[in-house]
Amino acid sequence: MHSDHINGDLAAVLLTDDQIQARLAEVAAQVDADYEGRDLLLVGVLKGAVIVMADFMRHLRSHVSTDWMAVSSYGSGTTSSGVVRILKDLDIDLVDCDVLIVEDILDTGLTLSWLMNNLRSRGPASVEVFTFLRKPEAVQVPITPRYVGFDIPNEFVVGYGLDYAERYRNLREVAVLRPEVYGH
Ligand code: IMP
Repeated sequence: MHSDHINGDLAAVLLTDDQIQARLAEVAAQVDADYEGRDLLLVGVLKGAVIVMADFMRHLRSHVSTDWMAVSSYGSGTTSSGVVRILKDLDIDLVDCDVLIVEDILDTGLTLSWLMNNLRSRGPASVEVFTFLRKPEAVQVPITPRYVGFDIPNEFVVGYGLDYAERYRNLREVAVLRPEVYGH
């Protein structure tokens, strides 16, 4: 789905498909260089990271393995609950693995800092983070993602994997919804 198809729902398009792909190619080149000669495991965080994972891994030139985790920290609203639960755990044993967590967005960082601690306790060689988007609140988080796609303003965004009440994940762009859509 393109932003043109749902113009009535959107206040603004923040990132176009072309901008996203160009930035993913840059990050992938950096990751290829940083992990040269090592076996990298990409851990995608469901469901938001599905789209960025699919595009990002195809920009990489090196071999990688992939696995997925599902955690929940948000309900269908737009504010963080602070509660993190594992809904689906990894299939792969992380001992001695170089792990790169692929996350859709770093907001309060509650989800990611919990996830990093959890994965680090499993004996991997390294755990780093690639977050596609980062909001300003993330500066208060005691974790620094090694790779950041885009820094965005402190607004609720949808598209490119990110949802509001499970909708808009299939939007090609990253956009801000009109306040009426979520009843504000
Ligand atoms: P955090 O724990 O506050 O960093 O939030 C992380 C999770 O909240 C993300 O993985 C998203 O699923 C969700 N989230 C945070 N901000 C947004 C947003 O602007 N749009 C959609 N989902 C968001």
